[in-house]
Amino acid sequence: MTRHFLKDTDLSPAELTEVLDLADELKRDPFSRRPLAGPQTVAVLFDKTSTRTRVSFASGIAALGGSPLIINPGESQLGHKESIADTARVFERMVSAIVWRTFAQSGLEEMAAHASVPVINSLSDDFHPCQLLADLQTIREHRHTGHGNGLAGLTLSYFGDGANNMANSYVLAGVNAGMHVRIAAPASHHPAEAVLAEARILGETTGGSVLVTEDAQSAAAGADVLVTDTWVSMGQDHAGRDDEASPFAHYQVNAELLEASNDALIMHCLPAYRGKEITAEVIDGPNSVVFDEAENRLHAQKALLVWLLEH
Ligand code: CP
Ligand code: NVA
Repeated sequence: MTRHFLKDTDLSPAELTEVLDLADELKRDPFSRRPLAGPQTVAVLFDKTSTRTRVSFASGIAALGGSPLIINPGESQLGHKESIADTARVFERMVSAIVWRTFAQSGLEEMAAHASVPVINSLSDDFHPCQLLADLQTIREHRHTGHGNGLAGLTLSYFGDGANNMANSYVLAGVNAGMHVRIAAPASHHPAEAVLAEARILGETTGGSVLVTEDAQSAAAGADVLVTDTWVSMGQDHAGRDDEASPFAHYQVNAELLEASNDALIMHCLPAYRGKEITAEVIDGPNSVVFDEAENRLHAQKALLVWLLEH
C-alpha cells in the first residue's frame, strides 16, 4: 500500500528514527541515494508562498536524480477548474510523488485517497510535518542524549500561537520521538483537543508527554529547546495578531526565557519576525541553530522521499 506523509504521526516511532538516520546519512553523503534517477518527476505544488520548502524540495529531488516540477499558486486547474480527485488521478500517471503546500488538511487527505504515489504535506493549516523532521534532526545533532533514538526524554517548549500548524506538529512529532513537549500559549490559542488526545495516547508507548500552559516562564524552566513561530500564519487575518495588544505578546522568546532554560537550543522554522515572537538578541545569539534547522529541511526531506519510495 502506498505510504503518504500527511501528518507527523504517519510515521511510527521506529519509522521516524529510520528517516532521521537516513537524513544524517544523506547529510554526510548527499548523492549516495538516487531513487529518482531516470529521471523521474516529483510534482511540488504551492497554494501558499515559500522559500525553504521550495528550494529544499527542488534541490533535494534533483540530488536524488529526479526532476522537480514546481507548480505555483494559480498555475494549474486544481482548486478552481478541477477536483482534487481528478488531479490525483492525472498526477499519479506522470509523477513519482506529490508534494503539496495548501490550506485544508482535508484536501491532502483527499489527494492521498486518490493517488497511488506518495503524497507529502509540505504545510497545511493544521500541520507542518516536513519541518518537524528537520527540527528533530537538528535537535539530535546538537543535543543527542546518547541513547535510544537520541531524542527521548528531552524537553521542548513552544511559545506563541499554540493553535497553529507548527504547534500541532511539535505536539505530535515531539511525543512521537518520546520528548516532553510544553506549549505555552494564551487560553484562546491552545492546540486542538484531538491533537492533544492523540499525543497523550502515543505518549503511553513512547514515554513522551504534552503539557499546555499559559505561563511562559514555567514552560521555559529547564527546557532543552525553546521554539516559537510567527504570530500570523499564512492565510490568517493580520488584524490584532502582531501588534502590542497581540494575544501572544507575553510569549515572546527572549533573554529572560533563555535564562530560565537549560541553556536551550533556540529554534524557529523561519521566516522570523524579530521583535515580535522572538528578539534579535536570541535568534542571532550563540544558542540559535535556526540555519542548521533550515538546512536540514533538505536532508530530512530527501530521506523522507527515499523512505516513502521504498515502502
Ligand atoms: N519554514 C518554512 O516552511 O519556510 P518556507 O515558508 O519559506 O517554505
Ligand atoms: N505557521 C507558519 C509557518 C510558516 C513556515 C505559517 O503557516 O505561515
